[in-house]
Amino acid sequence: MKRIIIAIDGHSACGKSTLAKGLAKSLHYAYLDTGAMYRAVTLYFLDHHIDYNDPAAVEAALQHIEIHFERIEGQNRTFLDGRDVERDIREMRVSEHVSPVSAISAVRRAMVQQQKTMGQRRGIVADGRDIGTVVFPDAELKIFLVADLDVRTSRRHLELAAKGIDAEWEDVKKNLLERDRIDSTRADSPLRQADDAVVIDNTLLSEEQQLEKALALAKERIG
Ligand code: DC
Repeated sequence: MKRIIIAIDGHSACGKSTLAKGLAKSLHYAYLDTGAMYRAVTLYFLDHHIDYNDPAAVEAALQHIEIHFERIEGQNRTFLDGRDVERDIREMRVSEHVSPVSAISAVRRAMVQQQKTMGQRRGIVADGRDIGTVVFPDAELKIFLVADLDVRTSRRHLELAAKGIDAEWEDVKKNLLERDRIDSTRADSPLRQADDAVVIDNTLLSEEQQLEKALALAKERIG
């Protein structure tokens, strides 16, 4: 059967990873969480006290950063330099710095190169901000996900609580707004809807309903 690339883009916490994981599971495809890669770079900079406004320090650090994914007990785990950082990268301290870090061109170049390599065999669902426009412009299916801001805030707040991460609802909302602003206005590969993307607004959809819609689109493309 034909193996395709599915690219999912959208604002922070609009349900991209839930949809991507659901699609990957249903189609037996790999899932590529590109946001986790930018989060892992951010965690590295914070833990190593690297001033990310210093281009030389950023270039030097990028030489040492090794990111990979492993599936452990059915869960996707992000590894940074051999350490499982899946929980650490979701913390608010990382969320607060990840947008400026991911606006740095040297960081993007390094991550996009790895992402393109991971997609070479196709049969992949990737989510992020520039997947349909920059990373996989030839993806057979591009989805641009949209959801109401308060709904996104509540979903992210619940998700953090489930992981045992305590955060104020208002702080979560402010962080989403600020990331949306930086991610959409940066000079290098800003978040934007690809011309050939299909928009799905999931504000009033359940996880099952959005998966059903996306699966129907994927099956059309697979043929
Ligand atoms: O998907 P996420 O919220 O975990 O992503 C974290 C940040 O990483 C997001 O605010 C912007 C950045 N990002 C990016 O610039 N490009 C991507 N393809 C994915 C994420």
